[in-house]
Amino acid sequence: MFTAVISATGLFTPSETISNQELVESYNLYVEETNFANRALISSGDVEALQPSSAQFIEKASGIKSRFVLQKQDILNTQKMAPQFPVRHDQAMSKMCEMAIKAATGAINNAGITAEEIDLVIVAASNTERAYPAIAIELQAALGCGGYGFDMNVACSSATFGIKTASDAIRCGTAEKVLMVNPEICSGHLNFRDRDCHFIFGDVCTAVILERESDVIAREHLDFLRIEDFKLITQYSNNIRNNFGFLNRTAENPQDLLFKQQGRKVFKEVVPMVAELISNLIADNKLLPEDIASFWLHQANLNMNHLISKKILGYLPDEKKAPIVLDTYANTSSAGSIIAMHLHRSHLLSGELGILCSFGAGYSAGAILLKKG
Ligand code: COA
Repeated sequence: MFTAVISATGLFTPSETISNQELVESYNLYVEETNFANRALISSGDVEALQPSSAQFIEKASGIKSRFVLQKQDILNTQKMAPQFPVRHDQAMSKMCEMAIKAATGAINNAGITAEEIDLVIVAASNTERAYPAIAIELQAALGCGGYGFDMNVACSSATFGIKTASDAIRCGTAEKVLMVNPEICSGHLNFRDRDCHFIFGDVCTAVILERESDVIAREHLDFLRIEDFKLITQYSNNIRNNFGFLNRTAENPQDLLFKQQGRKVFKEVVPMVAELISNLIADNKLLPEDIASFWLHQANLNMNHLISKKILGYLPDEKKAPIVLDTYANTSSAGSIIAMHLHRSHLLSGELGILCSFGAGYSAGAILLKKG
């Protein structure tokens, strides 16, 4: 058995942002236009008037202030309220592959390796742009990686489950160097006409390189995180759901193909599940919560992260111990905890510990104990 380490990470952030204020202005204009068009039905009581959204509500309920998106203009256009990506012909590169290349190149450079040395490519994300061929295989070809590749989807937990899969391949000798990427085009599955969730997501791509510890030490690349232990859990729930799928075209009138959730229920049920998962990971390794220098948690809701941290530690940790990126990135699904780890790990000293944790639809949750090399 070999020991697997994370030798580098990479991040691609789109150039366009949408603030809460901009999002709410567009949504409220849509509400005005829709209520005006439906005024007769509203006054007869046949249709309920839509209620306006509020930037104050969004920030208070979620902690989100802004989000990055691949295409802003049409999201804010009340006639469209969705990003518009022209259809690409079969020979053109997919959007997911395009953003994956950017994040992957950063990670490959940070690791000090070449793409040719990679022998396993995993694309782990909440959605894939097509059923097949796998985006991972397209990425493998575009970068010039060897070995094999495949896509996997564990919703918001895709990255931690992806790291576990990569680590297993390295431990067993199936692969030596793994690229695991999380291209999340969340604006594509978000209903910008639903005030309960129109503010939740942003677009981004993260990348992680995993290698054998002996390899990184041999080339004196000492800025790595050793994978010490894992805990993964799934528990069936319909409270976060997306009905998009290959059988949609067989239904006469397919509807409801976007993200939806029972936010309150998710909050209540997932917080204790995740706090217990992380606490068990700490206890099983004969550690105390205080022994963990950094918690890179999934970034969906600020209040949720505060509650999870308080349940584990007994107090509210500072930004260094449990960094928050959702204020500027919003919920980026599987990429959120990787962004936090990418941007907030330089303070870790050799031998210090961190926990990377994701949670979301399924339900699914993954926690990984990491030690700075
Ligand atoms: N602007 C103004 N008011 C809004 C609103 C908006 N954009 N969206 C909802 N409201 C209203 C609701 O209609 C409700 O009104 P009511 O009390 O009159 O019924 C009230 O605000 C509270 O709504 P609720 O949905 O209960 O808010 P919340 O405090 O639960 O916050 C979330 C909503 C989505 C931010 C929160 O539930 C959450 O983040 N949950 C966890 C989600 C999660 O992690 N999901 C994982 C996804 S991968």
